[in-house]
Amino acid sequence: MRRLIPCMLFSCIILVGAAAIPAVAEVDDSDCAMCHEELAAAFEKTGHPGCQSCHGPGDAHMDEGGDPEQIIRPQTLSPEASSDGCLTCHDRQENHFAARQGIHRLAEVGCIDCHTPHGGADVMMRDQGAALCSGCHQGVAARFSMPRSHPMAETGPGCVSCHDPHASGNNHPSRTADEVCGRCHFEKTGPFLYAHDTMLVDGCSTCHEVHGSTGRHLLVQETQVNLCYSCHGAGVTPGWHSAQRFLGEKCTACHTAIHGSNTSQFFLEE
Ligand code: HEC
Ligand code: HEC
Ligand code: HEC
Ligand code: HEC
Ligand code: HEC
Ligand code: HEC
Ligand code: HEC
Ligand code: HEC
Ligand code: HEC
Ligand code: HEC
Repeated sequence: MRRLIPCMLFSCIILVGAAAIPAVAEVDDSDCAMCHEELAAAFEKTGHPGCQSCHGPGDAHMDEGGDPEQIIRPQTLSPEASSDGCLTCHDRQENHFAARQGIHRLAEVGCIDCHTPHGGADVMMRDQGAALCSGCHQGVAARFSMPRSHPMAETGPGCVSCHDPHASGNNHPSRTADEVCGRCHFEKTGPFLYAHDTMLVDGCSTCHEVHGSTGRHLLVQETQVNLCYSCHGAGVTPGWHSAQRFLGEKCTACHTAIHGSNTSQFFLEE
C-alpha cells in the first residue's frame, strides 16, 4: 500500500497531459538498479522514496527491455507540470508552496533546473554556490568581478545568502530596511531613535549596489558627495555645507553614523 500512494501522485499529471498510465506498480523499485546501476547508487544518498514514485509504474518499461516511451520522463513535461509533481510531496513545506507564485515559477524555471532528484554536487543540487545561478544570470554574475564586490565566498552559500530562490513575488532583499542584510550587518539596520528616513523607505540598495560597483563601500556613486547631494540639494543642507567646500571630501567625516543614531539627529555620532 505504501507504494501505491506516491505512484498515483505523478500519474495524475500524466492523465491530464497524455495517455493514461496504469497506476499500480507491479515491480519492486530495487529492480530498476539492475539496469540503472550508477544512477541508483547516487540516488541512495538522497532520502527520496522509490523510483516509481516519480517515474510511475515500471512494469511495461521493463517488459520491453527498457523502452523509454513506456515510463514517465519528467524532463519531457512542461516546467510547470514537472514542478507540480515535486510539489505533491513538497507542498507541506510552507516555503515551497510559495514556489507556485515564485518569480522562477512564473518565468518557467522548474525545480529540476536547479535540483537533480537523483543526487548531484551537493546531494540534490545541479551545481554549488553561485555557479548554480550564474549561468542564467550572467549580467549579475559579472558584477561580482567589478573592482569592488560583495564578498560571497566569505559569507556562505553564495547568492542564496541574500536571495531565496523559492520565494514568491519580488524576491529581492532590501526594498525596505532589511532583515536580510541585518543578519550580518545588524549594526546598520537599527532600529535607531534617529533613523535615516530613506533607509526605512527604500532600503539599503538606495545607496549600495551590493553585487558590485566601482564606488568605495559598494556605493552607487563613485564620489560620496554626489550621492548625498542627489537628495540633499543646496538649500536643504545648512548654508556652510556648500558643494565647493566638500567636493572630494566625505560627508561621513562628520556624519559618521550615516545609517542611524541613538544620540544625534544629524547622525554626527553612533
Ligand atoms: C523525486 C523524483 C524522482 C525519483 C524518486 C527518481 N527520479 Fe529519475 N528522474 C526524475 C526527474 C525529474 C528526471 C529528469 C531530470 C534529470 O535528468 O535529473 C529523471 C530522470 C531519470 C532518467 C533519465 C536521465 C538520467 O539522469 O539518466 C533515468 C534513467 C531515471 N530518472 C531513473 C531513475 C531511477 C532508476 C530511479 C530510482 C533509483 C529514479 N529515477 C528515481 C525524478 C525522479
Ligand atoms: C531491463 C533493463 C531495465 C530495467 C530493469 C529498467 N530500465 Fe529503465 N531503461 C532501460 C534502457 C535500456 C533505457 C533506455 C536507454 C537509457 O536512456 O538509459 C531505459 C530508460 C529509462 C528512462 C528514460 C531515460 C531518458 O533518457 O529519459 C527512465 C526514466 C527509466 N529507464 C527508469 C526506470 C525505472 C524507474 C525502472 C524501474 C521501475 C527501470 N527504468 C528499470 C533499461 C531498464
Ligand atoms: C513521493 C514524494 C516526493 C516527491 C514526488 C519528490 N520528493 Fe523530494 N523529498 C521527498 C522526501 C521524503 C525527502 C527526504 C526527506 C526530507 O529531507 O524532507 C525529499 C528531499 C528532497 C530534497 C532535499 C531536502 C533537504 O533538506 O536536503 C530536495 C532538494 C528535493 N527533495 C527535491 C525534489 C524535487 C526537485 C522533486 C521533483 C523532481 C521532488 N523532490 C519530488 C519526497 C518527495
Ligand atoms: C532557482 C533555483 C531553484 C529552484 C527553481 C528551486 N530550488 Fe529548491 N533549492 C535551491 C537552493 C539553492 C536550495 C538550497 C537553499 C539553501 O541552501 O538555503 C534549495 C533547497 C531546497 C530544498 C531543501 C531545503 C528546504 O528549503 O527545505 C527543497 C526540499 C527544495 N529546494 C525543493 C524545491 C522544489 C520542490 C522546487 C520546485 C517547486 C524547487 N526547490 C525549486 C534552488 C532552487
Ligand atoms: C534556468 C535558469 C535560471 C537559474 C538556474 C536561476 N534563475 Fe533566477 N531567474 C531566471 C529567470 C528566467 C528569471 C525571470 C526574470 C529575469 O529574466 O531575470 C529569474 C529571476 C530571478 C530574480 C528576480 C529578478 C528580477 O528582476 O526581479 C532573482 C533575484 C533571481 N532570479 C535569483 C536567482 C538565484 C539566486 C539563483 C540561484 C539559486 C537563480 N536565480 C537561478 C532564471 C534562472
Ligand atoms: C549581499 C546580498 C546579495 C548577494 C550575495 C546577491 N544579491 Fe542579487 N540582489 C541583492 C539586492 C539587494 C538586490 C536588489 C537591487 C536593487 O533593488 O536595485 C538584488 C537584485 C538581484 C536581481 C534583480 C536585479 C538585477 O540586478 O538584475 C537578480 C537577478 C539577482 N540579484 C541575482 C543574484 C545572483 C545570481 C547572485 C549570485 C551570483 C546574487 N544576486 C547575489 C542582493 C544580493
Ligand atoms: C543614505 C545612504 C545609505 C544607505 C541607505 C545605507 N548606507 Fe551603508 N553606507 C553609506 C555610506 C555613505 C557608507 C560609507 C561610510 C564611510 O565613508 O565610512 C556606507 C558604508 C556601509 C558599510 C561599510 C562600512 C562600515 O561601516 O562597515 C556597510 C557594511 C554598509 N554601509 C551596510 C549598509 C546596510 C546593511 C544598509 C541597509 C540597512 C545600508 N548600508 C544603507 C550609505 C548608506
Ligand atoms: C551572510 C552575511 C552577509 C549578508 C547577508 C550581507 N552581507 Fe554585506 N558583507 C558581509 C561581509 C562578511 C562583508 C565583508 C566585510 C565587511 O566589510 O564588513 C560584507 C561587505 C559589505 C559591504 C562593503 C563594505 C565595505 O566597506 O566595502 C556593503 C556595503 C555590504 N556588505 C552591504 C550589504 C547589504 C546592503 C546587504 C543586504 C542586501 C548585505 N551586505 C548582506 C556579509 C554579509
Ligand atoms: C535617497 C535620498 C537620500 C540620500 C542619497 C541621502 N539622504 Fe540624507 N536624508 C534623506 C531623507 C529623506 C532624510 C529625512 C528628511 C529630512 O529631514 O530632510 C534625510 C536625513 C538626513 C540627515 C538628518 C537631517 C535632519 O534634519 O534631521 C542628515 C544629516 C543626512 N540625511 C545626511 C546625509 C548624507 C551625509 C548623505 C550621503 C552619505 C545622505 N544623507 C544621503 C534622504 C537621503
Ligand atoms: C565638518 C563636519 C561636517 C561635514 C563634512 C558635513 N556636515 Fe552636514 N552637518 C554638520 C553639522 C555639525 C550639522 C548640524 C547642523 C548645523 O550645524 O547646522 C550638519 C547638518 C546637516 C544636515 C541637516 C540640516 C538641517 O538643518 O536639517 C544635512 C542634511 C547635512 N548636514 C548634510 C551634509 C552633506 C550632504 C554633507 C556632504 C556634502 C555634509 N553634511 C558634510 C557637520 C558636517
